[in-house]
Amino acid sequence: MSTQKKIVCIGAGYVGGPTMAVIAHKNPQCTVTVVDINQERIDAWNSDTLPFYETGLLDIVKNVRGKNLFFSTKVEKAIADNDIIFIAVNTPTKDYGVGKNMAADLQHWEVIARQIRKVAKTDKIIVEKSTLPVKTAEAMETILNTGSNVHFEVLSNPEFLAEGTAVRDLLNPDRVLIGSRETDTGQKARNEIVEIYKAWIPEEKIITTNTFSSELSKLVSNAFLAQRVSSINAISAVCEATGADVQEVAKAVGADSRIGSKFLNASVGFGGSCFRKDILNLVYICRMHNLYEIATYFENIINMNFFQMQRFVDNVVSAMFNTVAGRKICIFGCAFKADTDDVRDSPAIPVAQTLISEKANLVISDPKAIDNMQKELGGPSNVTFVADPYEAAIDSHAILIITEWPEYSSLNYQKLFDVMVKPAYLFDGRNMVDRKKCFDIGFNVYSIGKEALIH
Ligand code: UDX
Repeated sequence: MSTQKKIVCIGAGYVGGPTMAVIAHKNPQCTVTVVDINQERIDAWNSDTLPFYETGLLDIVKNVRGKNLFFSTKVEKAIADNDIIFIAVNTPTKDYGVGKNMAADLQHWEVIARQIRKVAKTDKIIVEKSTLPVKTAEAMETILNTGSNVHFEVLSNPEFLAEGTAVRDLLNPDRVLIGSRETDTGQKARNEIVEIYKAWIPEEKIITTNTFSSELSKLVSNAFLAQRVSSINAISAVCEATGADVQEVAKAVGADSRIGSKFLNASVGFGGSCFRKDILNLVYICRMHNLYEIATYFENIINMNFFQMQRFVDNVVSAMFNTVAGRKICIFGCAFKADTDDVRDSPAIPVAQTLISEKANLVISDPKAIDNMQKELGGPSNVTFVADPYEAAIDSHAILIITEWPEYSSLNYQKLFDVMVKPAYLFDGRNMVDRKKCFDIGFNVYSIGKEALIH
């Protein structure tokens, strides 16, 4: 085994960029080149304004960039020059043909496999970082090895980082999962990858499995996490109807150590680029194997999430006497969660779209995600974007909290109330505010999974 490891990562996005920066930072034995065909994105990685916001990432990048971490658009050269190839390209959901809206679109992945095959002159270890359907590694190995003079060993090493805490998750993960074949070459390749992580991760946290288990575990982890949010959100509707308080229920249920307290915050719904996509992927795999009941079971996690978002916005409209047309409504938070500027699959999108179709005048505020939201909504005439929440609230009839930005707990709600039209409504989609205090100020307060406080 060579002491210096030469690594290339194809794809400089939310997974590839942070993961490789941390590998280079924690393991000086690795020289890492991150490549992407998107020149603008690579330029951003080479500057002091990274392509997206992630706490602590810039410091790490600056520390190793130009030493053992490089960003480049020369994809083929990097493939030829390196021994270990991580693939972290986007795997969007297919929006055409067989598996439409469910299966992963593997177009990029296949193009890359063929490119690797064309330029590789020495044996390579290929590592799947992107979340892919089960058995992708096997398919890739077939494409790569058929009629080739060099040997390709394809491994799965899914990334479990969550956006907003990417650096923390990478520095101190619950586990690192590495799937490989059980053959001699498979095990040898697996040891090479284990060596990379051993530089900073205790060995007992490095789990090795067969390739299929590793691929499936990633989808199942996300399905289980999303299922918890959807389960507590289902209970939130029951609480609202019965007078129970969902946070009290979550606390009581989460105190059972077998269940645990994490991921039991009832909300307007989950968002993000992974949960919906990965669950649909799992659903598709079930259908492919004629497991229709199981497909339906997992699909209902997503249906429940959609219902929760719709229920929230329906409540807004009905509480305001079914007429929001021409009324100014303020959305606080459009990122899919706090500490990120990412709006992909954010609950703010369907909420905003419904209110736009109801002809409300929307004002959208967010500490980081306004630019991305503006692109997402494409600028309909009755939407404005105002970063400062106090300015955004002027003359509005309602405030809707959609993202759990911590600052929304500590805003001066008296000051907000004073500039709003009365009666002033507060719809707290994240249970962030002191609801009794806000009610005393004069707001009609609607929380998730709690009885509304109405004057
Ligand atoms: C997720 C997984 O957590 C991560 O392991 C995987 O690698 C990628 O997908 P991410 O999408 O970044 O990460 O966000 P996560 O923190 O899991 O939150 C997902 C959504 O659920 C967010 O919209 C969040 O606000 C919501 N959520 C989370 C709740 O509504 N309630 C909770 O209790 C937890």
